[in-house]
Order: sequence, then C-alpha cells, then structure tokens
Amino acid sequence: MAQVITDKQGIQHYMITINVNGDDYTRVVKANTLLVNVLRDELDLTGTKKGCELGDCGSCTVLIEGKPVDSCLILAVEADGYKITTIEGVAESAQLDKIQESFINNGAIQCGYCSPGMILSAKALLTTNPHPTEHEVREAIAGNLCRCTGYVNIVKAILKATEEPNDQEVISNE
Ligand code: FES
Ligand code: FES
Repeated sequence: MAQVITDKQGIQHYMITINVNGDDYTRVVKANTLLVNVLRDELDLTGTKKGCELGDCGSCTVLIEGKPVDSCLILAVEADGYKITTIEGVAESAQLDKIQESFINNGAIQCGYCSPGMILSAKALLTTNPHPTEHEVREAIAGNLCRCTGYVNIVKAILKATEEPNDQEVISNE
C-alpha cells in the first residue's frame, strides 16, 4: 500500500516502490501519474514508447509480474510493489534476447517504435508457451499495432525465435 504524503497545499502524493528490471525504485508520485511516465521521465527508461495513450496501440507495453500490460493505462500507484520488466530488461548482460535477435534477423523492425511492445508481448507468450502456433502468436500481439512493416515479418520473427539454433541454421541454409 503506497504511503500517502500530504504537501503544504494539502495535496496528497504517494510514495511507491517498484521493481524495474531487477532494481527497486522508490518515487513520490501524484495520484494521477501514469506508470509509463514514471518509467520514461523518472527512470529514463525511454525504450517504453508512448503512442496513443489510450490503450489502443500497445507501444507502451511492459510486463508486470510477467504479464503484458499497457503502461499508459496503469496508474503508478497501482504498480506499487510489483515487478516490472521493460525492454531494457529483456537482454541478459551484453547478449540480446533471442526474440530481439530474431526481429533483427527477420526484417521485423523498420522505424522500431512498436518493437519494444511487440517484443515484450512475444516474451510473455514464449515464457508460458515456448512453441506457439502462428494463430497464438497473432493473438498475443493483437494489442500491438505496427504502422510500418505489416505483421508477416513480425510473426515470422517470433516463430523463428522458438526454434533451436540448429533448426535456424537448417532453414537459413535453404
Ligand atoms: S501508448 Fe499505451 S496503448 Fe498506446
Ligand atoms: S516498425 Fe514502425 S511501427 Fe512497427
């Protein structure tokens, strides 16, 4: 439960602690502060993009406790105490996540604005379902809009990311 702090004008603020990409951050926020703004403006994690700010485009997708959510629809106080993963936390040390690699290798990125959200939605899917069907992939990214590439290469990249390295070699040599 976020601690309430009342300022000299009698306005209430809230002290929250969120765990982002493995690190705890404590911040004082207003009641109406959105999670996306805390991530971008307070923590400098600008990989989380803002598009519609209405829950339509999915560019602000982050994982909360492993589940994809639109961070423009979540108040920062609602995220208090939760574990959040942003695109900055997907790669392990210097090694890109296999989904990131696959997006690069399969032409799934043009302007890249949708890519963080797409990759996090795909990450959530592959964590619970390592070998999804194309239909399941399309369902998982249904809330993520791309205005550049169309979806063929994005779906292909996610499916390729499910293959073992040896399988990928066989296909790339075809
Ligand atoms: S910016 Fe959050 S869904 Fe579009
Ligand atoms: S790559 Fe530009 S919006 Fe998807």
